[in-house]
Amino acid sequence: MKVAVFSTKPYDRAFLEAEAAQAGGEHELHFFEAHLGAATSELARGFSAVCPFVNDQLTAEVIGRLADGGTLLVALRSAGFNNVDLAAAEAVGVQVAHVPAYSPAAVAEHAAALVLTLNRKIHRAYARVREGNFLLDGLLGFDLAGRTVGIVGTGRIGLVFARIMRGFGCGVIASDPSQSPAFGELGGVYVALPELFERSDIVSLHCPLTPETRHLIDAEAIGRMKRGVMLINTSRGAVVDTRALIAGLKSGAIGYLGIDVYEEEADLFFEDLSGQIIQDDVFARLLTFPNVLVTAHQGFFTREALAAIAQTTLANISTFERTGTPLHPVTPEKHLCRASEPCSHVGRSG
Ligand code: NAI
Repeated sequence: MKVAVFSTKPYDRAFLEAEAAQAGGEHELHFFEAHLGAATSELARGFSAVCPFVNDQLTAEVIGRLADGGTLLVALRSAGFNNVDLAAAEAVGVQVAHVPAYSPAAVAEHAAALVLTLNRKIHRAYARVREGNFLLDGLLGFDLAGRTVGIVGTGRIGLVFARIMRGFGCGVIASDPSQSPAFGELGGVYVALPELFERSDIVSLHCPLTPETRHLIDAEAIGRMKRGVMLINTSRGAVVDTRALIAGLKSGAIGYLGIDVYEEEADLFFEDLSGQIIQDDVFARLLTFPNVLVTAHQGFFTREALAAIAQTTLANISTFERTGTPLHPVTPEKHLCRASEPCSHVGRSG
């Protein structure tokens, strides 16, 4: 099948080509660096399948143009599909597929890396030692053992994160509308969200972005948390109200903030903007705090996760070619967010 891969980075190409070769070279992959959108949809003319990523915008207009050009399948290489107009795709008979799960360990381990780095101030120590400054002042951390970690969302990633934090000797409590027995087996206890905020030394977010979880962490939630709490967000940017975070950081209510996702990340992340002036003042303010660590949506970025994404993406395409339906189809009904799916109605998705 002829496949147009959009928003290609060198690592996407490497993993997809390796997987395609292993799968017997049955597909002809063409790589475009451009995002897929109204201005670039013409590039997909003559390709039976397109393979977009999280910042490609598949609006009704784009889907219509793809269908005109002969596209039959949109094979997303992400879990989230909030950037695709599913109703428009269904109306013109274009099928949509996604990668429902790839490596929960990748994201959970990244969340743990944020915790350790913020606590022991590794980001500051690294720079300091390289400057020949071997003072320890300002680098004081705390023992993780014995601390309480509050996990919002004990799905695939939240459970792995709970296991990791148990390994450090932390107590784990969680809030999730659908409770997992595996969390209890780890010694975890479910509590209501306000209690989680009140008891936790570290709060880590692992729920999807839905209308219900949008700005779940707002000024009121921060007001309930222990003063100096550590907040980690590797889920979706809009689960937190960034302006409330900034107020909390300024007042000292939040003692540490580690984020891999940001509400307005689509205009920033995955690109080299080092030669430009950042126009987003809220984001720029976040970067001024010494106790804030921002990574640019790299939680998923491990060899294992990229290999799994490539494998499932190609399996979607092969299954579609053989049977007329991809392995992991996405339909407008599925967009109504099942708790067990890492879907998000709003915002970006990895
Ligand atoms: P999952 O679907 O396995 O688990 C999500 C859990 O959140 C479910 O147990 C669900 O019941 C729970 N949940 C839903 N609403 C909730 C609420 N209001 N309060 C508390 N819990 C709630 O999803 P998975 O795979 O664990 O992913 C979790 C999040 O991580 C998703 O938002 C996903 O998009 C994000 N993610 C981030 C990546 C990154 O690179 N930073 C990569 C992949 C996923």
